[in-house]
Amino acid sequence: MGAVQGHQTMVVRGEGPYVITDEGERLYDASAALWYANIGHGDERVIEAVAKQMRELETFQIWGGFLNPRAAELADRLAADHAPFENAKVLFGAGGSDAAELAFKLARLHFQRQGKSGKRVILSRENAYHGLHAFGSAVYGNMEMRGLYGGESLIPETGLISRDDIVAVRAQVLEIGPENIAAITAEPIIGSGGVFPPAEGYLEGLRALCDEFDILLVFDEVISGFGRTGKWFASDYYGVEPDMTMFAKGITCGYVPLGGVFVAPKIWEPFWADDPGAVYHFGITYSGHASACAAALTVLDILEEDQLLARVERLGARLADGLQNRVLVTPGVKDARSVGLIGIVELEAGIDARELSLAMRKSHGVLARALGGGAIALAPPFISTEEEIDNLIDALAAVPARFTETATL
Ligand SMILES: Cc1ncc(COP(=O)(O)O)c(C=O)c1O
Repeated sequence: MGAVQGHQTMVVRGEGPYVITDEGERLYDASAALWYANIGHGDERVIEAVAKQMRELETFQIWGGFLNPRAAELADRLAADHAPFENAKVLFGAGGSDAAELAFKLARLHFQRQGKSGKRVILSRENAYHGLHAFGSAVYGNMEMRGLYGGESLIPETGLISRDDIVAVRAQVLEIGPENIAAITAEPIIGSGGVFPPAEGYLEGLRALCDEFDILLVFDEVISGFGRTGKWFASDYYGVEPDMTMFAKGITCGYVPLGGVFVAPKIWEPFWADDPGAVYHFGITYSGHASACAAALTVLDILEEDQLLARVERLGARLADGLQNRVLVTPGVKDARSVGLIGIVELEAGIDARELSLAMRKSHGVLARALGGGAIALAPPFISTEEEIDNLIDALAAVPARFTETATL
């Protein structure tokens, strides 16, 4: 990459929930960077753990008869204490896009090994985002983005389902034919596609459909996992158990890249039933990277010891209250909603979210991410204070009005 910066902001330091730019601005990171800086920036405990691990052994692959202690420890701890369902096995990759590849290939393999190799289609929701590797691009919930690569979808055996109408989803499943469908995937709360919590009964409806038609239910909790709703997983929050759960971001909070998939016994038991030595061929180099796993183990310690999930619940209630009572009534705001510490403010047509985000930065020292479609995404770090949440609400209650016609007259 050349040195041309254009309109980009160079972030040079991080301190807790703040980032510092090369121009010396100190900004509250209201979007936790890209939904990952949940424990904030620069936490010495993670830095120390990673440095210690690197001195001992930066990594060794968990493939071809090898293992490293941190990957084994993390998989065991996740399965025992922090899995979205009982008796989970854990697969590792290097991020969320890897998790999508891991999960969707495994869904197809699952049925292929049962002699149901017709079951290949992966269905995803309108507005969904599952990363940008081939499978993620192929199940993108935005047709324009999905069709960029010489076809309607990179992987033809994919399809879109309604985002919130479970009756429509049932009709779509019947039309495609359940005998052709391997999995339905869903972010329980759609994230970068616009922060849409599920409609009442939608996730339960997906679970029932999948049970009825022998389809795997794969939740993508890359954003919502590891505490963002105030529960460990959004599946706990909504009380619906999937067959696989993808995770990334919050597992290491951005200190080093890591992602993976929780796999339910329904999938791993038959996999090994006939052949205990069977191998799922996904031996990517950095799967189970020891230093990344060391970071993840320390993030789990921090989430537990600092009781951050309870804090998310408390701050989430404050955020919801502020959005409801102060932001929603602000001229220029079309809608505002949140669950735990994930939220969105949709702006009236004609207001440029990027401009508005810049104005919030100047007037309130808040860095909040503009989403396409005229909205500001909110994902405050879990370590935020009440005052920081209040300042964010102040910014969102004050700044949009300046962008309305009446305000500029
Ligand atoms: C829900 C969801 N799934 C998958 C991904 C892809 O993760 P990564 O960018 O780590 O590959 C993202 C990234 O934003 C995401 O939000």
